[in-house]
Amino acid sequence: MVENEKAFLNTQSELSMKGAGYYSKKTIGAKIAIDSLQHLIIDALNNISKSKNLRFADFGSADGGTSQELWYNVISVMRERGDHRPIEIIYTDLASNDFSTLFKTMQGMGENVDLAYQKEFENVFVHGCGTGFHDQLVTSGTLSLGFSATAMHYVSEKPCQILNHVHMVGASNIERNKFKKQALVDWEAILSARAKELEPGGRFICINFGIDENGRYLGNTGDKSMFESFNRHWKGHLDSGIITEEEFISATFPQHYRTVEEFSQPFVGNDCLSNKIGLKLNRIFTKLTKCPYRQEYENNKATITPEEFAKEFIPTTRSWSETVFRSALKNRTYEETNQIVESFYKNYENEVANSPSEHSMDYVHIVMEIERI
Ligand SMILES: C[S@@+](CC[C@H](N)C(=O)[O-])C[C@H]1O[C@@H](n2cnc3c(N)ncnc32)[C@H](O)[C@@H]1O
Repeated sequence: MVENEKAFLNTQSELSMKGAGYYSKKTIGAKIAIDSLQHLIIDALNNISKSKNLRFADFGSADGGTSQELWYNVISVMRERGDHRPIEIIYTDLASNDFSTLFKTMQGMGENVDLAYQKEFENVFVHGCGTGFHDQLVTSGTLSLGFSATAMHYVSEKPCQILNHVHMVGASNIERNKFKKQALVDWEAILSARAKELEPGGRFICINFGIDENGRYLGNTGDKSMFESFNRHWKGHLDSGIITEEEFISATFPQHYRTVEEFSQPFVGNDCLSNKIGLKLNRIFTKLTKCPYRQEYENNKATITPEEFAKEFIPTTRSWSETVFRSALKNRTYEETNQIVESFYKNYENEVANSPSEHSMDYVHIVMEIERI
């Protein structure tokens, strides 16, 4: 294998969600956020294509579990309205994604059999695409509706490693600006690709992690910041000699949380990108979704112990972050890696059990509806 192929695979493995359905089982908050925006898709359906066939895409779908009910409901509404046009749904993610679980789920061979819409409705065709969403993924002018949740904060490549933190939210100004620049290049590539794919009148609806007008972001909404906890425990492992300096630095999340201003930039001014490629930003707003695990604990303190809450809470942080820490340990044996990763999350779990009311993973999304003109 040549060097740059290795680098490519490493980046992909850092981005992957935990497989075999773990991601969607432990990521209830993402599902709640997605379901709450169903009305945007239903509204969009009133305006999209009158053509004979419909093509929808779910960009960065992971195992498909968190958006399954959304698509079930959307198709259900269409059929109830007497719209029986064939619908092609294309799930896109990286080649390293667990598409096998996704296909099984949609065919009713996994969990949530009742939502296996491919079986339930006629004329619905499910496809997978393993090419990244920074490229054009379908034939020009054939996409009726694009959707993406919680995926486009991943940058196509890390512009640098972050030396003293695990995430850009704690990076130095110089490092943070490099991530910001990369994220803008990526966002413009994403928009250009969608502009080519969408048919006139088609919509791209996306809900992305970002930083809201109050400076809040995932796991940082007033309680102890989740990324500070990740950083503290990873640094604790460095200080105890469990990991090396290089391993500490390698655990740099390949993510950038954009602000509303950053997302809007390609749409602002006469000379802006969106005017050149034929896109219009119909709406943009921020949305807070409370951490369901913390809420469950707060509502049931009489029956749920702090230790039980901590045990339930950690997996929702782990489902998407674990691969970053694992990838940083790429020169270790499998057993060593497991031990280090387990003790890292155990330390975080102990911290949560000691101060349960200070931990939550609230979601902060920037929601956009973009139209192809
Ligand atoms: C946090 S998960 C979100 C999954 C699901 N959409 C949700 O909201 O629950 C992010 C997904 O984006 C995918 N992803 C990251 N970069 C990508 C890229 N360049 N192209 C396609 N998918 C990507 C990851 O592999 C992962 O499955």
